[in-house]
Amino acid sequence: MDDKPATPADMTRQAREILVANDRGGYTVPTADLYPFQWNWDSAFVALGWATFDSDRAWQEIEKLFDAQWPSGMVPHIIFWTEASTYFPGAGVWQAGGNMAGAPDGLPFSSGISQPPVVASIVKGLAVDDPARAAKLIEPLNRWHKWWHSARDAYDLGVIAITHPWESGRDNLPDWDLGMAKVDTSRVGPYQRRDTELVDPSMRPHKEEYDRYLALVQFGAENGWDDDIIGHKNPFLMADPSITAVLLAAERDLASLMKDNDIDSSEVDVRIERLASNYDRFWNSEVGAYCAFDVRSGTHAGTATSASFLAPYAGVTDRLDTVVAMLEAWSQAAPYLVPSFDPRGERFEANRYWCGPVWAVVNYMIATGLAEQGAPEWAERIRISTRDLIITGGFAESFNPVAGSGTGGHTFSWTAAMWLAWAHAE
Ligand code: GLC
Repeated sequence: MDDKPATPADMTRQAREILVANDRGGYTVPTADLYPFQWNWDSAFVALGWATFDSDRAWQEIEKLFDAQWPSGMVPHIIFWTEASTYFPGAGVWQAGGNMAGAPDGLPFSSGISQPPVVASIVKGLAVDDPARAAKLIEPLNRWHKWWHSARDAYDLGVIAITHPWESGRDNLPDWDLGMAKVDTSRVGPYQRRDTELVDPSMRPHKEEYDRYLALVQFGAENGWDDDIIGHKNPFLMADPSITAVLLAAERDLASLMKDNDIDSSEVDVRIERLASNYDRFWNSEVGAYCAFDVRSGTHAGTATSASFLAPYAGVTDRLDTVVAMLEAWSQAAPYLVPSFDPRGERFEANRYWCGPVWAVVNYMIATGLAEQGAPEWAERIRISTRDLIITGGFAESFNPVAGSGTGGHTFSWTAAMWLAWAHAE
């Protein structure tokens, strides 16, 4: 499949072809080989793409995700519906889901962590076409959201912490170094990565990071993925402005779905208030931006990231002018918005995964927030950047914000979906 089609109409056709080619029956792989299973937040965004030409298939994508929901309410970040040798670490390393203690019959094997809970916001959008199908998802969504508050805010801060960089969806963001410094890798034996055989290693995380990723999986597996142990004792515990913003937006959308269905939403309203009134904990006054912080030490990461622009998406507008001013400053440093890491920062790397490249799905959320909160011209600039990047870089995993080229893997489902649902040239 040609990654760089010539006209917008060709691209729309190819975007649909990518979703169809990556369809594995009820779920869509992010891309063949590199990510050969179902990924949580990928499926949410991909449903928006399906919805532009096959509404039934869009709903299946979300419903399938909830077939993997744990009794605790957790919805895993990877679901191993089949076996595939092109991905590491697979089901045997995670030892999660499937027949683990207390699991219902038929639960698939999965990872033991979750991913940004964007689903309720996607369902809210799709509900216009099929309110009855949306209504059936309210109860599982509510259980998942509750799980975030109890299992991922064990210290009761009113913000959400991640227990593994993969849980944030922003794998090798330099912010995580703060928490990762404490992760002991002495028991991680030899292993064979598969990602660096499939993608240019200079675009992927370093080995030292991978060792720590695996040490954290080991810790979870050895503790039976027990929420209480992980919530309190996990070697890595960092509060994440991105996951907190995504959950806050999703809680607002869940409350609205409940109200539309005459369901009492007061418990969700309490949770919304909890997150909204604590979001300012992320504010790092030295940087002048919302930044992640280490839960135990309280130390903030010292650089702004694309997540610093997600407060409007969460309906948090106290510092909107400062957020927009920083976007302006970033646009002077990088022609394509929005880099995943401050393009003026020392650790910025234009081609390396979450150290700089632009991700279409993050742009979609930032732009949605800015459009809703009174900065539509910035929302449009971000849409146009995303459109131009897809035109110049193809349906890549992510994009170099300086050169405009594609980075990471190719024929990516969520990039195709973002073209179809939002960024396409009209
Ligand atoms: C990478 C990304 C993550 C995504 C996954 C599948 O791990 O960092 O956000 O969900 O790939 O596309």
